[in-house]
This record gives sequence, structure tokens and C-alpha cells, in this order.
Amino acid sequence: MKVYAIVLAAGKGTRMKSDKPKVVHEVLYKPMINHVVDELKALGVDETIVIVGHEADQVKAIVDDVTFVDQTEQLGTGHAVLQAKDILANRDGMTLVLCGDAPLIRKETLKEFIAYHQEHHNQATIMSADCDPSTHYGRIIKENGQVTGIVEFKDLLESQKDITEMNTGEYCFDNKALFEALSQVTNDNAQNEYYLTDVIGIMNHQGLKVDAYKIDDFDEVGGINDRVALAQSTQFLRDRINREHLLNGVTIVDPSNTYIGRDVVIGHDTIIEPGCIIKGKTVIGSHCHIGPYCEFTNMEIKDNVEIKFSVLSDSIIESGVDIGPYARLRTNCHIHENAHLGNFVEMKKADFGAGSKASHLTYVGDAQVGQDVNFGCGTITSNYDGKNKSLTKIEDNVFIGCNTNLVAPVTVRKNYIAAGSTITKEVDEDAMAIARARQENKQGYSKILKEIREKEYERRNKNKK
Ligand code: UD1
Ligand code: CA
Repeated sequence: MKVYAIVLAAGKGTRMKSDKPKVVHEVLYKPMINHVVDELKALGVDETIVIVGHEADQVKAIVDDVTFVDQTEQLGTGHAVLQAKDILANRDGMTLVLCGDAPLIRKETLKEFIAYHQEHHNQATIMSADCDPSTHYGRIIKENGQVTGIVEFKDLLESQKDITEMNTGEYCFDNKALFEALSQVTNDNAQNEYYLTDVIGIMNHQGLKVDAYKIDDFDEVGGINDRVALAQSTQFLRDRINREHLLNGVTIVDPSNTYIGRDVVIGHDTIIEPGCIIKGKTVIGSHCHIGPYCEFTNMEIKDNVEIKFSVLSDSIIESGVDIGPYARLRTNCHIHENAHLGNFVEMKKADFGAGSKASHLTYVGDAQVGQDVNFGCGTITSNYDGKNKSLTKIEDNVFIGCNTNLVAPVTVRKNYIAAGSTITKEVDEDAMAIARARQENKQGYSKILKEIREKEYERRNKNKK
């Protein structure tokens, strides 16, 4: 059977007090809408329709491989789903409706939810959970154990106020029955909105099978309406993810102070020290020692790598590499086996060969560096002329003395560069390049200088006495 999904993401999210639409705000370094859409992708639904409205372009810019439908006026969740009518109403199958502001939902839960819906031959299944009676969620109304409707918090009758079974805002519908019922929804309620929740009462009246699927974990389904909930969701997701890594054999020294994104993969026997933020599509191998205080974005790190106090993004690090403290890889770097990057070393678009070392105060940008090259302290590639970026090529086994400027484009073949050189032309194989002013020793000058200084000191202080 075909499974479609509609994700509601048109609302402004007034309580966020933000210039950005609510679903663009990040939970653990990933926008809420991407959490929901990525779970649907992993689930393998046939088509995902995202309803956008408020600042739609900001949402469209960050979500791929979905169908967007505009809801130009936000007249309620029912009205939002109705915007997908032209695409879905005539199709056979089932439709999941999810809220873009409930990012913690897991594909495993959705899978069980769909299975429940099918096994019970329901036309509509509401995902529900028990909540605190004071929270402002819609409530599931049951008569003799049978779901008869959903009532919004603001519309609850006095007699309904002790109901704790809440509507998570996640539903599974027979697709055709959903759009049939939606056409009957009105905005006659406390908020003058077209409530999606009303379709449940309507379908019940039509004699269709309406049911609730209650899940234990309220935290997975709580909608985010303000920044308090946003912060709580990040904490909750952090704990859930860290727990999975711990159970998979990763040591996290202080899980409450370690932030690992949802799409990160880490091998066993890797140790993560406190203060690390590991996000994006980062993959870390086994037996690595990471931190304290690292920030990784979209990194591919192989086994037995050691990195501390460093900010690294969009790069590959092969096994046995040792980085930090205080290194930075900006983008497109490939650091090969057993290389070493030490204190205050920055690289960008650099292919850095196996066994090569840049131990202190070095910048390598737009460079191809061979194996076993040694960068002396303070060496830089001068890759930018104010307009163009150029390449520096350094072959295997080159020894670069301290404080060298490599002015690109330039190639250095297997050889030595003397400390303090500014290299502007190709250095041939087996040569040693020296490109600095020759040293001259002025005999006796140190004594003369001392006398000049002392006389000047006396002259300046004479008047003060
Ligand atoms: C909704 C449910 C409530 C449930 C709660 C769970 C309704 C009427 N109420 O309430 O029963 O307990 O979710 O979190 O459905 N949206 C649109 N277009 C609109 C209005 C909303 O796309 O015109 C989107 C919002 O961007 C948001 C989602 O729908 O992602 C939910 O809307 P929201 O206003 O937050 O609904 P709640 O009041 O939380
Ligand atoms: Ca909400």
C-alpha cells in the first residue's frame, strides 16, 4: 500500500518571538523540519508533502526531495492539510500527517504506528500520549473506550478538563477518507480556525473506524511552541542520542556536556571528552580520542585518531592522525595517515600527505603536500593575491624551515627550505632554497649602541631631577 506524508510547517510560531519561521529553528544543530523529513525519508514513504506558508522560502531553502504546497493564509491545521487536496485526494493509500514542530519523532515509532493502523483496519489513528492536565494540548475524547473526537484545550468543557490523554498531532489516515471528512470541517470554535482535529469527530459520525495509538514516551512527541520547549527538546534528544552511543560502546565522559547530532556515527572504544559538539553528517571511527572541547561538522574521521580543542569541518582525516590543541580545518582538507597538526594550525583545501607534520603556528591553504613533509613553526602558504587563490605544491620529504612564506602558485620539489625564506619560484629537486637577506655582523657595534642609549637616557632624565 502507498504511504504518503503531509508535514505541517506553514505556521509562524508566534511564541518563538522570532524573525524565522518556527520549523527552521534548530534542535541539536538541525532544523526541526529536517528532523521530521529525514525520519520520513528513512521510513521510505512514497511522497512527502510539506505545507509551507509563513516565510516559505526559508523552509524551502533547507529541505530537499519533498513536494512543497503553499498555504498562503494560515487558517488552521485542517485548512493546511486541505492544501494537499489537489495532489492526494484521489489516490488510494494511507497518509501520515505530522507536525513540523514535533522534531523528536523516530522512524521506529512511526513504523509501529502504521502497523497498528493497518492491523486494526482503522480509517484514522491518532497518536496519543498521557500528559500533565495543565498542558495546552488537544484531548482525546472517548465514549465506552471508543474514540469519538478530539477537543482543543481552549474548547474543553469543564467535565473534560481532567482528561490526560493528549493528541500528539501525528495521525495516520485512509487517504480518501481524510479528504472526504476535511471538506466538512468548519471554523466554528474558540480560535476561529479550521481544525484538523475535527475530522476525527466527523469520521466517527460517518461510522468509520477511529482509534488512538498511545505511546509511552511523551517527550518524543511534544510539540515545540516556545524557546523553553526548544531548549528542553535539545536536552532530551542529546540524552537519547548519547545513551545510544554509550550502549554501542562509545565512552562519553560527561554526557550532559556532550552534544552529538542525530546523524553522527561513532565507532566502538572511541572516547569523547567533555565539551564536544559533533554535528552534521560526521562519521568517527573506532579507538579515537576526541576532546575535550572540539566542534566537528560533516567530518569523516577514521580509526585511532586523536583530536583535542579543535574546530574542524567538511574534511577527511585518515587513521593515526593526531590534531591539536587549537587546530582548525575549514573545509575540503584531506589529512592522510599518521600526519600531525599541532597548536594553532589552520588548513583549508589542503591535501596533507601521510606522516607529514605542521606542529605549530602554520597556515596551509590551497595546497598539495606530499608524505613526510615537515612544516617549521610559523610557515604559511600565501595563497591569495586579493583576487585569486593559487596552489602550493610540495613533494615528499621536503623540510621547510621556520617562518617560511610559500607564495603561490609555487612548487617545491624534494629539498630543504631555509628558515625565514619567502619562496616565490619553483625549488628544484635536491636544491636548498634560501630567500632572505644575508646576515651581516657589524664588529664592535654592540658596545657603541650601548653608549648611545645611555647618553640619551641621561639627557632625557636630567631635567626631571
Ligand atoms: C495542534 C493540535 C492539538 C495537538 C497539538 C500537538 C489542532 C487544531 N490542534 O495544536 O490537538 O495537541 O497540535 O502539538 O490541530 N500549521 C500550519 N498551518 C496552519 C496552522 C498550523 O501549517 O494554518 C502548522 C504549524 O506550523 C505547526 C503545526 O501545524 O507546525 C501545528 O500547529 P500549531 O498551531 O502549533 O497547533 P497546536 O495549537 O499546537
Ligand atoms: Ca504546536
